[in-house]
Amino acid sequence: MQVVKTIAGMQRLSRAWKREGRRIGFVPTMGWLHAGHLSLVERVRREVGPKGKVVVSIYVNPTQFGPQEDFSRYPRDLSRDARLCRTAGVDVVFAPPDSEMYPGRARGDFTCYVVEEQLSRPLEGVSRPTHFRGVTTVVAKLFNIVSPDVAVFGAKDWQQAAVLRRMVRDLNFPLKLVVAPTLREPDGLAMSSRNQYLTGDLRRQALALSRALAHARKAVKTSRSPQPPGPLRKALEKIIGAEPDARVDYIEFFEPDTLAPAAKIAPGTHLALAVRVGATRLIDNARL
Ligand code: PAJ
Repeated sequence: MQVVKTIAGMQRLSRAWKREGRRIGFVPTMGWLHAGHLSLVERVRREVGPKGKVVVSIYVNPTQFGPQEDFSRYPRDLSRDARLCRTAGVDVVFAPPDSEMYPGRARGDFTCYVVEEQLSRPLEGVSRPTHFRGVTTVVAKLFNIVSPDVAVFGAKDWQQAAVLRRMVRDLNFPLKLVVAPTLREPDGLAMSSRNQYLTGDLRRQALALSRALAHARKAVKTSRSPQPPGPLRKALEKIIGAEPDARVDYIEFFEPDTLAPAAKIAPGTHLALAVRVGATRLIDNARL
């Protein structure tokens, strides 16, 4: 396995692979890898086959963090991540420094962004108004650098996957975008690099998210007709509010592809929530 740090080096490899007729699979990440990330690697390997090449990018993208967010303290450990990638059968880790990805940005000399103007507005977009602009911009850049045939994203970040699917469609990126299921800890907590911040009792309190999802799934299963969202939202707020350090940011019911708010909750309606547990903002979602 190779660790490549320059854009020119990565593009050279991709061009050579294309000439050899190999398929390229890609999993973009911000590192601090966990089993959820590695499940995407497994998935992309299945997509490109044994002769294909699998690239994982590890880059904590500054443009998707708000000024008050955790960019500087986001966990980073390239040698640990590279070890995990090698064991998982990754061919290349692409880990560029900021000076490769955004040269000149600090002095105002980076002025092109990719903006999705609809799906990025609700949910995460409300409290993180510039987040998806950063995500679409960096993923577009990464697609231009890696030239994948297939890219895999996690359902854990449901809105991110929807926004990126729209970008691929509207801007004609020549690749297949796959969304793979959320991996969870045995007790139900969705795996996340940010779980690292959950010390002491906060780790237990964080289970309120998956408990709320389970409650909602059960409520939909047992109700005979579509329900208005109000009462169920109240019940979920109560489950989360029972934890002393948990604060709801949003609880939203919506159509899974358009992210349009659901007037009635029925099987197939999607639920997403964002909750602050102590100082850590966690998100989770499920199909009801
Ligand atoms: P990051 O949070 O590192 O996640 C990288 C990929 O792993 C994303 O597609 C995410 O949805 C997926 N993922 C995270 N937790 C998962 C879990 N428990 N189960 C399955 N998949 C999971 O998402 C990003 O980085 C960035 O926004 C990025 C797309 C790399 C752009 O900077």
